[in-house]
Amino acid sequence: MMLRIARLHATEILDSRARPTLAVTLTTDSGLRVRAGVPSGESTGSREAAELRDGDPHRFAGQGVQQAVSHVNVQIAHALVGQRFASVADVDAALTELDGTADKSRLGANAVIGVSLAAARAQATLYGRELWQDIAALSGAPPLLPVPHFNVVDGGAHAANNLDFQEFMIAPLGAPSLPEAVRAGAEIYGRLKARLTAGRQVAGLGDEGGFAPAVDRPEDVLREMVAAITDAGYTPGRDGVAIALDPAASEFRGPDGRYRIAGEPLTSDELIDRYEEITHRFPVWSIEDGLGEDDWDGWARLTARLGERIQIVGDDLFVTSPAIIAEAVRKKVANSALIKVNQIGTVTETLEAVRVSREAGYTQMVSHRSGETEDSFIADLAVGAGCGQFKSGAPARGERVAKYNRLLEIADLDPGLPFGLTSG
Ligand code: PGA
Ligand code: ZN
Repeated sequence: MMLRIARLHATEILDSRARPTLAVTLTTDSGLRVRAGVPSGESTGSREAAELRDGDPHRFAGQGVQQAVSHVNVQIAHALVGQRFASVADVDAALTELDGTADKSRLGANAVIGVSLAAARAQATLYGRELWQDIAALSGAPPLLPVPHFNVVDGGAHAANNLDFQEFMIAPLGAPSLPEAVRAGAEIYGRLKARLTAGRQVAGLGDEGGFAPAVDRPEDVLREMVAAITDAGYTPGRDGVAIALDPAASEFRGPDGRYRIAGEPLTSDELIDRYEEITHRFPVWSIEDGLGEDDWDGWARLTARLGERIQIVGDDLFVTSPAIIAEAVRKKVANSALIKVNQIGTVTETLEAVRVSREAGYTQMVSHRSGETEDSFIADLAVGAGCGQFKSGAPARGERVAKYNRLLEIADLDPGLPFGLTSG
């Protein structure tokens, strides 16, 4: 079967942070119409594919995406409409060639990923498959319902509090099924809210729907989380409910190379010591971006020190780039890759990043961005690519819940799908 594009149309819509983003509509020659929404990060890696923003201060404070919209409607449409494609891989190759830059900065990675997501959805619809089934066919991996990681406390660039670590996640590793994992996330979120409210520490929500409490030491948050897990009737730990951190450390590393936590300057090795202590005191099973993206030597030491005991995830460090992940494997840096579609810019390259990670024995966690739409594409991506782990923010707010609810729908439609970190 061939994918023949009859019409491509982008428009400016809003993301969850009241910033413009793109919605791309693709119509096939058989009259099928699909749509995709484009996510956008805030604490971005410097080597990410380049999002195109208008920079016109009179519209959306410079954040408009009218140029990227126009690139879809004019240049990309001109190149793709009327063409026949054997697969989304061919659409992605055409997009990459048309852009011609290494970071997709000419057309804009936001324009390119919007078209790629829409093409993947169109292909699945043409084949009469669920999106995750089509992605499974593309990836060749055994499909798997992933363990959701619910971000329940926000700090860093995602909240206006004094917390330096960006994300504190609930990871129901011991849950027997996806619905039970979602239930645990929601129940613990509720218990945590009650605790923070009683302690007068709640200062609203962060961008991903986690609470933004008025505390500054990460250990104080972890203590509340463990208490909330217990309050909700679960056992803290890997057999029950564990915790995952995304400090997003590039954001609190100063020009002097020191990391500042609650005002205290730490060297890479002092911060690694702090992480080690945290993993002994609290059931933390995974740390993402524990060090800055320029601190590769520190990353190698962090991995050597803690990599046998916990998961060490590269996000800003890897930017979903197959080449950078391959370099990290050679240098024994991290043991897990975060997977974000708009960091690399096409579905095909995203699946390549998953494949490189898997072949090296690195685990994979599919991730949303802090700026999201209601599009739930990444839920199908996580299942179809068999990644085993997934993060989409809090178990609250429509744009976050859309993804968890899609996982629940997939689980309901196909009760035979395995759930967990691995299919084995
Ligand atoms: P971002 O944050 O979408 O703002 O980059 C998410 C993350 O760091 O994992
Ligand atoms: Zn991150």
